[in-house]
Amino acid sequence: MKIAIGSDHAGFGLKEEVLGLLKGLDHDIVDCGTFNTDSVDYPDFGEKVSKLVSSEEVDRGILICGTGLGMSMVANKFPNVRAALCNDLFSARMSRLHNDANILVLGGRIIGKDLAAEIVRTWLSTAFEGDRHMRRLNKIKKIEETINSDDK
Ligand code: RB5
Repeated sequence: MKIAIGSDHAGFGLKEEVLGLLKGLDHDIVDCGTFNTDSVDYPDFGEKVSKLVSSEEVDRGILICGTGLGMSMVANKFPNVRAALCNDLFSARMSRLHNDANILVLGGRIIGKDLAAEIVRTWLSTAFEGDRHMRRLNKIKKIEETINSDDK
């Protein structure tokens, strides 16, 4: 899969760990930064990854900030993005089975590298169940289209 990854300073350490895991799993990676622990603003990096997912230039995205909350707020502003904050394994699995999440968000100040690795592996290897869940995703799409057409 082609996967874009991004973080702010608070997620940088975990991003580096996740990058190592992704390379080992043989994925094609686009690293959108940040590239050190200097203080930055999470919306700038959330935007880079979310744009790539929204336009389908990549298959999936992974975003990491301190809690995962700010990155989730940013990512879910973009059309076609279904970002899921998963700091536990059950959420990671369900976000794929039921929500077809295309961006995984992690809290770098909340979880450690071993749990993060399990979450990423689970999230990448779990397929969407479709069926009744597709109907619900279509309703989200409809809401997105209605809101965007009201803006014009
Ligand atoms: C940065 O201090 C922190 O606010 C950010 O990483 C994130 O947790 C925001 O939601």
